[in-house]
Amino acid sequence: MKGILLAGGSGTRLHPLTRAVSKQLLPVYDKPMVYYPLSVLMLAGIREVLVISTPASLELFRELLGDGSRLGMAIDYAEQPAPNGIAEAFTIGSEHIGNDPVALILGDNIFHGPSFSPLLRRNAQQIDGCVLFGYAVKDPERYGVGEVDADGRLVALAEKPVRPRSNLAVTGLYLYDNDVVDIAKNIQPSARGELEITDVNRVYLERGKARLVNLGRGFAWLDTGTHDSLLQASQYVQVLEQRQGTRIACVEEIAYRMGFIDAESCHRLGVEIGSSDYGAYLRAIAMGET
Ligand code: TTP
Repeated sequence: MKGILLAGGSGTRLHPLTRAVSKQLLPVYDKPMVYYPLSVLMLAGIREVLVISTPASLELFRELLGDGSRLGMAIDYAEQPAPNGIAEAFTIGSEHIGNDPVALILGDNIFHGPSFSPLLRRNAQQIDGCVLFGYAVKDPERYGVGEVDADGRLVALAEKPVRPRSNLAVTGLYLYDNDVVDIAKNIQPSARGELEITDVNRVYLERGKARLVNLGRGFAWLDTGTHDSLLQASQYVQVLEQRQGTRIACVEEIAYRMGFIDAESCHRLGVEIGSSDYGAYLRAIAMGET
């Protein structure tokens, strides 16, 4: 399965923070925001990732993540000239996807919860249709909302419904079979002028091939789109990391634990990162001390 990390957008709700810097490069506590969605793709076992961002920011992502080889991955880059909608990721990324299934994650989505890696890998296997991930929220009217039957099959989708029939928001992580490339090519821009991911998901729903996995209440799906939610996400990560002494979305650690790199490479990354606690953490991981 290929991965696409969509990290463009205009980030208007975070102005002036995002006037000169991409939202997904802002810090969430001790690491850039983009590490969090990248770590999710890695936990799904995905090693080939296309990062899509604005022409102005793409070079900064390249500087941060390089060609991925340090993480035992292959990371490529593509421009989205304007924020024409999330579903445009599949036309921009069609060559990267090739004939494979694909996981799309939005660059500002943070997921954290127990047994996430096995859950992702189970759902990514032999995918036939699409798998969406739902999360119960108290304000579903702000989101795309899904309804499921007893078998987890998606039976209805509504975009920002005035009277939601369920409290399950559709999160920014989507798994698709290869049909998504053709489906995305054939959808039309919505009234707000965007290629909507909901319209892609609706095609799968109509084919009876969409599932919605409820992440459950032990899980955290954090928003980072406003000043308050960005600060709260940092505080969440700080509290858990300081309490447990482990790090959330430390992509170098994940690369090591997933077997993408060996202990020696992990140690070298820790040395390269230098004198920060983050570097020391990586060196300790590589030496089996954490
Ligand atoms: P949004 O939160 O919808 O938009 P935004 O990030 O531009 O922020 P704001 O609402 O404050 O203006 O985007 C969700 C994620 O998807 C975010 O990571 C940016 C990304 N995105 C793109 O990369 N391209 C797009 O065309 C769109 C619509 C979103």
